[in-house]
Amino acid sequence: MRGSIVLFGPPGAGKGTQAEIIVEMTGKPQISTGDMLRSAVSQGSELGLEAKGYMESGLLVPDQVIIGLIEDRLRESDASNGVLFDGFPRTIPQAEALSGITEVSAVISIEVPDEDIVNRIVGRRMDPETGEIFHVSFKPPPPELENRLVQRKDDNEETVRMRLSAYHDQTKPLGDWYSNMGILTKIDGTGSIQEVSQSVAKAVRSL
Ligand code: AP5
Repeated sequence: MRGSIVLFGPPGAGKGTQAEIIVEMTGKPQISTGDMLRSAVSQGSELGLEAKGYMESGLLVPDQVIIGLIEDRLRESDASNGVLFDGFPRTIPQAEALSGITEVSAVISIEVPDEDIVNRIVGRRMDPETGEIFHVSFKPPPPELENRLVQRKDDNEETVRMRLSAYHDQTKPLGDWYSNMGILTKIDGTGSIQEVSQSVAKAVRSL
């Protein structure tokens, strides 16, 4: 399919986890603004210094910063046939800016209630070498990887509540915005990782 796909949903809904199957099925590269910002923070770049405080407080990084980041990334050659956005756009101004840069053909919204989110996020562990996402209960890592896994600094209960509040105030209205455009597909994100993957695959096949 032509155009880009947006993976939409609250923090910890499983966007990063489910991105893999969409990349496999469509060949579109994944663009995660969260990963790009974390990489900037760990490099200590100007962008990283600006973003760090917002991220650690669970607040959204200002729109102009994010839009500039995306404009630069979309100039790269692998983005010419559309991409998979993960965690972007997150506000209506971001979505409006995006519509002036590239065509969004589909939005896949992974729906998970707030009460499931805190457990998912607090138990998340990441492999810094491969980027693979694990969960202490729902997707336990193999024992040989356990020692090198890391926990994100913003994956604590207090910050998750702030991130959820930012999601409800600033991001959730964007779901209605895309729904009114007729391009939003809702997926029940409360099943197991495999069950959600099956629903995501079905949604991608129907695009
Ligand atoms: P970002 O990195 O985008 O974080 P997020 O949206 O909060 O999403 P997460 O990465 O936390 O969750 P996910 O949906 O990918 O879930 P995952 O698959 O890992 O953003 C971080 C920060 O950067 C923001 O707070 C903001 O400050 C800034 N930022 C980023 N983009 C921005 C933007 N566009 N504008 C402004 N600011 C921006 O799964 C979570 C856990 O659950 C894992 O452990 C996983 O194994 C487990 N899991 C997944 N699926 C299931 C399942 N079905 N059942 C049980 N467990 C599951």
